[in-house]
Amino acid sequence: MTAQPSSRLIVVSNRLPYVRHLKKGEKWALEPGSGGLVTALLPVLRDRGGTWIGWSGVTENVSRIDDIFRNASRGAGYELRPVSLSQEEVDKYYHGYSNETLWPLFHDLQSRATFDSEYWHTYVKVNRKFAETLAGECTDGDFVWIHDYQMADVAHHLREMGCQANLGYFLHIPFPSPDIFMKLPERHALLTSLLAYDLVGFQTVRDRRNFLQCVRMLMKNARVRPDGHLHVVHVDDRDMRVGNFPIGIDAAGFAGRAGQPEVEERVRSIKERFAGRQIVLGIDRLDYTKGIPERLRAFSSLLERFPEVHERIHYFQVVIPSRTGIPEYDELKMRIERLVAEINGRFSKLGWVPIHYFFRSLPPDELLAFYRASDIALITPLKDGMNLVAKEYCACSLEETSVLILSQFAGAAAQLGSSALVVNPYDVEQTADALYHAFRMPAGERRYRIRRLRRNVHGQDVFWWVDSFMQAAIHKELKDFPLLEDYIPEHHENIVPSER
Ligand code: G6P
Repeated sequence: MTAQPSSRLIVVSNRLPYVRHLKKGEKWALEPGSGGLVTALLPVLRDRGGTWIGWSGVTENVSRIDDIFRNASRGAGYELRPVSLSQEEVDKYYHGYSNETLWPLFHDLQSRATFDSEYWHTYVKVNRKFAETLAGECTDGDFVWIHDYQMADVAHHLREMGCQANLGYFLHIPFPSPDIFMKLPERHALLTSLLAYDLVGFQTVRDRRNFLQCVRMLMKNARVRPDGHLHVVHVDDRDMRVGNFPIGIDAAGFAGRAGQPEVEERVRSIKERFAGRQIVLGIDRLDYTKGIPERLRAFSSLLERFPEVHERIHYFQVVIPSRTGIPEYDELKMRIERLVAEINGRFSKLGWVPIHYFFRSLPPDELLAFYRASDIALITPLKDGMNLVAKEYCACSLEETSVLILSQFAGAAAQLGSSALVVNPYDVEQTADALYHAFRMPAGERRYRIRRLRRNVHGQDVFWWVDSFMQAAIHKELKDFPLLEDYIPEHHENIVPSER
């Protein structure tokens, strides 16, 4: 298929979908990173000569960086354009404004947010740097799809540079209510930045509603009107649109890989080892938004109030290292480990340790085996844009015997809430009761609930998500970008589970 430079897809995110490894001899190696988004976008990126722009992931002066990415591009089948950042930029834009200001504030944890005008200035500067790289790449006929809170200000700079391309933006994390958003010193500038896009997508109706309320309150010259399932905001003599598009996973891919013999074998050995006992599973990136200490306290309350579960239940908590170097994250790790030690110290018996704690990333097969072997998933973030672990868990529940306990504050609750056991993660006793209820739930009810969950996760998967966003943005779907049959890049046979 010939590339058509007039209608390419250009994706922009803080990170490129590649992970850097330092090989022996201090040499760099790149490996394809987490999967959902890239799996869904791959056909479009590859077959229309697409490009992905993101931070190279390094701050040290690595020579040949462009060569390394050029080689990776050849393997990937689409162009990877790295943006280099200095240490100061990473400190103030990535650690600072993105993760110490926007991240806590947008997750309703305003007391954890740091407000520092230096952070904001560097955020603007780095967004401008991304916009400059983009401007060198795109023509007015391209569709540019920009992702997440680190990149909210890119369109505004592109417009200043005279770019006319269609610019779409998707926020993967929640958008806060006006009460919280108003605390942001740069609230007006940030809203103005978002209104420079042609389409802004949110995970849930609640996020979209919060955004539109903020627009109505802060942008006196803006007019909002509904238009089908979208809303149109008329501002500064132009229309832009706003919608909600809940992100999905590659559910068929997950189910297929979970049924592979290697995974099957691991599942069998876990089941044998824990025969006659139920396994509760929690998997999260190390993050204070995930509610891990609250969840541990809920498990402790279960053990305290319902002694009949002793020696009949195990809780596996996997914590994936993340954002190391930000003090809040290091402190959280210590807090979790102290709680695990306290609970195990208090309740363990010879031959029974209630909590199994893992602080590392799991290899894909092991993760899939954990999903399949566990009886109950305990997914209780204090706030979450979507939570893909909940969806992956359902997709991998091939035996249809699992129960999902889900926080009402995860975006996923909007789609999965009617079949999961929904809890308020701050309510430790309610969560413990839900665990007890799940523990005793009869097979028939489990099957009924998980089937409905799986139907949802398969029906509204990541391909459906890309289609709905593209349909709203450019009236095209994935099938309008046909696959090249004779080209399968080697690494995409080995798709890695999504970001958690
Ligand atoms: C969340 C964000 C992503 C981010 C990921 C990992 O899922 O929405 O944008 O990439 O966390 O965080 P990190 O800071 O390691 O990129």
